[in-house]
Amino acid sequence: MGKRVWLITGASGGLGSALTRSVSAAGDEVIALGRKSVDLTDPGQVRRAVAEAVAAFGRIDVVVNNAGYAAAGAFEELPDSALREQFEVNFFAAADVLRATLPYLRAARSGHLVQISSLAGQVGAPGMSAYTASKHALEGLSVSLAEELAPFGIRVSIVEPGAVNTGFRRSWAERERPGTIADYDDLAARLDRIGRDARQPTEPEEVAAAILALVDLPEPPLRLAVGSDAVAGIRAARIRQLADLETRWIA
Ligand SMILES: NC(=O)c1ccc[n+]([C@@H]2O[C@H](COP(=O)([O-])OP(=O)(O)OC[C@H]3O[C@@H](n4cnc5c(N)ncnc54)[C@H](OP(=O)(O)O)[C@@H]3O)[C@@H](O)[C@H]2O)c1
Repeated sequence: MGKRVWLITGASGGLGSALTRSVSAAGDEVIALGRKSVDLTDPGQVRRAVAEAVAAFGRIDVVVNNAGYAAAGAFEELPDSALREQFEVNFFAAADVLRATLPYLRAARSGHLVQISSLAGQVGAPGMSAYTASKHALEGLSVSLAEELAPFGIRVSIVEPGAVNTGFRRSWAERERPGTIADYDDLAARLDRIGRDARQPTEPEEVAAAILALVDLPEPPLRLAVGSDAVAGIRAARIRQLADLETRWIA
């Protein structure tokens, strides 16, 4: 296969920068979008960046919606603005990137959309309501798009890492607690502890390697869980869901 052209958002961060390095090392071209070069929450800027990239490289083969963060905190303490901002970045910015790139992929009758979700795209956790909601939304969009775009030769994959050794958790711990409801003191302390815990089982380079292998597959899976914690968490959630189906279903 010749050189592919990748567009990667959040390229300044742990996973985005590891993926950018791995893709370049594999000999492919990368359009690396960082917050300093493009404001992903401004659809006009996203469209212009994509048009310039296509003018420079002639096409885009792989789109990786990677930029994201977690607005951690008890739901009752999160201001509405924090919930909306979470969706702006993790969901609407990703949707804008797809709107800007899909016309080129559809015209080419090929391409691969790689949506960086999370274990949190499949399961919930206390203090993670905004983040899990945004990643579930990204997964819902992706599942429907996979079927909608298949007739045009465009493939969609959802990548679900567990805890990855990047600045992701630290950056949620470093944000100020959004509220002061005493009932949530223990949860806030726990989120802070988790955010500052440096032991995370998966390195960003491992996720990058998994994504490179994914796009090479002739028939890539719709979902790819990366890391033993992600696989175990999703499996446990699905087993619970199946048990719920069995107990609650009424003939
Ligand atoms: N690390 C984990 O444990 C983990 C697990 C599952 C899924 N993920 C997902 O993996 C993706 C990459 O995260 P990471 O682990 O590499 O974290 P990271 O090191 O914090 O990097 C996040 C990237 O997203 C960008 N970003 C954050 N907020 C943004 C905003 N408001 N506007 C534009 N860009 C923004 C950051 O840009 P700046 O550098 O400018 O801030 C950075 O490039 C995210 O979608 C995350 O949800 C991470």
